[in-house]
Amino acid sequence: MASTDDLRRSAIQPGDAGLGRLLRVLAVVSVVFLAALAVAPLRPYFAEWRRAQQHYNALASANGARPIPIALQQIWKPELGIADRCISCHLGMGESGPVPGDPLFAAHPKIPHEPLEFGCTVCHGGQGRATTRDAAHGFVSHWDQQMLPREHVQAGCGTCHNDSPAPRVKEAEALALRKGCFGCHKVEGRGGDEAPVLDTAGLKPIGDLNFARVPGEQTLTNYMRRHLLDPAGVVPLSLMVPQPITDAEADLLTTWILSLRRRELPAEYLPRDRVRRMLLAEARPLMSGEAAFGAYCSACHGPQGEGRNYGGQPTRFPAIGSPDFLDVASDAFLAGTITNGRPGRRMPPLAGPNGTLRADELASLVAHLRRLGPSAPARAAVEAARPARGWARSSTGATARSATGPRAKVPSSVPRSPRPTRRRARPIASTARWRGAPKARRCRPTASTTPRRCAP
Ligand code: HEC
Ligand code: HEC
Ligand code: HEC
Ligand code: HEC
Ligand code: HEC
Repeated sequence: MASTDDLRRSAIQPGDAGLGRLLRVLAVVSVVFLAALAVAPLRPYFAEWRRAQQHYNALASANGARPIPIALQQIWKPELGIADRCISCHLGMGESGPVPGDPLFAAHPKIPHEPLEFGCTVCHGGQGRATTRDAAHGFVSHWDQQMLPREHVQAGCGTCHNDSPAPRVKEAEALALRKGCFGCHKVEGRGGDEAPVLDTAGLKPIGDLNFARVPGEQTLTNYMRRHLLDPAGVVPLSLMVPQPITDAEADLLTTWILSLRRRELPAEYLPRDRVRRMLLAEARPLMSGEAAFGAYCSACHGPQGEGRNYGGQPTRFPAIGSPDFLDVASDAFLAGTITNGRPGRRMPPLAGPNGTLRADELASLVAHLRRLGPSAPARAAVEAARPARGWARSSTGATARSATGPRAKVPSSVPRSPRPTRRRARPIASTARWRGAPKARRCRPTASTTPRRCAP
């Protein structure tokens, strides 16, 4: 029997160190490595953009046009932070000009600006420096700014313009005003404080969104429309009151949210509307009472002030348009509630120093509530589905629910609050943002639409 040492000595022969085999392996690896190195510079020759340019040249010569040198093309606007290579493939939109035969080489559709002066991503989004289609369009996992899909592309005008000249954005903003999004969300400093400001909602990196409960493609726009159609379905326990909207309206509101994204701009790229709004703090035109109701109240209290009671929401939103309520609520009480909100409750402050509703607008809104009275359904009808609740005057003279309601008594500060103080000058003021305010539903004129005053 051999000792362990013998075993070692006999088992490990010089040939077994595999020097010869190692050398052979090394030789093969080196050849492969050199081959890889040699091929690397060739790779771009098979790049997508190169094939596009070769195709362009084929079409160009077929059409008697001059072929272009095959090279990456780029729009460079350092002052905007832009280096967009989109025109390496979208050649018809660059210096080379359109050729027929492939939609990729078409000219840019007519818009109020010359694309070559702005680059492409300023309006479209996407990843300007990328040279493959998917990466450039931004639909790759490491890039947060997806290109705006075709139907939302007008939202891109909002990166520079505050009063977007784009028709779809105007339509979308009018819808947002009608649907009451401003009751909970602030936009440019104006609106309720219930929810995240919307100015930057569209800038959320795609990686921060939870798609677990979002059916369909993992795009920002799909996420947004699903969230608008069913907030609690996408964000568990969301306190966003679902608005009755159609699919098309959800798309329109998605365009609107995306249009609120702004980009820092050097002076030469500032459109006049933005200068007026940001720097000159131009006052916006007054909103009518009707428009103010639509924008700030309708989402919670219902389009006619009929009140709302959502299955999934812990809060009931009381009827404020019904005659039985308005008969006992004084103007001062209404104005005070709107100005101060109800601290600790889901009624946000929407007038006064927070600058949302100006004094004149508050007065028109109160007058509008008075006009709602006769046409709104009786409170009892709306509240039928809720626990029985009576209405009574509190000791302070304000209306208060009987103790069975979620709130026993109106805080005594509310009815005593004076007429709202005049609004302070705001740093950001708008003009036409509100000019496009929709004509909200006008209540049917009846004999009793004259405003009533019901002193407490
Ligand atoms: C590698 C080539 C390539 C690059 C780079 C590229 N694209 Fe495209 N793009 C395409 C192709 C191919 C299509 C489909 C064209 C067709 O058949 O209509 C397309 C379609 C589009 C469309 C219309 C269809 C849609 O999906 O809405 C837009 C808008 C667009 N590109 C914008 C851009 C922008 C902006 C950039 C730069 C950030 C860019 N593209 C960079 C290849 C490219
Ligand atoms: C000022 C904003 C703006 C800029 C800058 C801009 N686009 Fe567009 N682009 C638009 C709008 C708006 C549309 C939709 C036009 C329409 O529907 O009539 C559009 C449409 C397109 C389309 C779709 C055409 C189609 O018929 O489907 C492509 C592709 C496109 N742009 C590529 C580019 C490229 C590439 C650049 C950069 C060279 C660029 N755009 C720069 C606003 C812009
Ligand atoms: C890079 C910033 C930028 C983007 C993006 C942009 N614009 Fe402009 N726009 C300007 C500037 C700067 C002016 C010139 C100053 C002015 O007239 O207000 C202007 C002027 C205009 C005007 C003339 C306005 C007037 O009052 O005479 C129209 C119309 C317009 N843009 C439409 C659009 C549309 C539509 C889009 C989106 C497709 C768009 N713009 C996107 C910067 C931009
Ligand atoms: C009753 C108050 C309320 C109303 C009315 C309301 N929202 Fe919301 N919204 C919320 C709350 C609370 C959240 C945060 C929870 C969530 O993401 O669902 C939210 C979230 C959002 C978000 C995501 C914001 C972010 O940064 O994550 C968007 C976008 C949005 N709302 C748009 C709208 C639009 C558009 C309307 C008008 C149709 C609207 N909301 C009406 C309360 C409201
Ligand atoms: C985010 C949802 C929300 C918005 C937006 C909202 N309210 Fe309210 N409002 C409530 C809730 C909830 C109550 C009940 C508060 C409580 O329980 O004390 C309430 C109470 C009131 C009351 C007192 C009713 C009573 O029963 O005493 C008035 C008046 C009122 N709101 C008017 C308005 C007006 C006018 C607007 C628009 C400028 C508005 N609200 C916007 C949620 C809202």
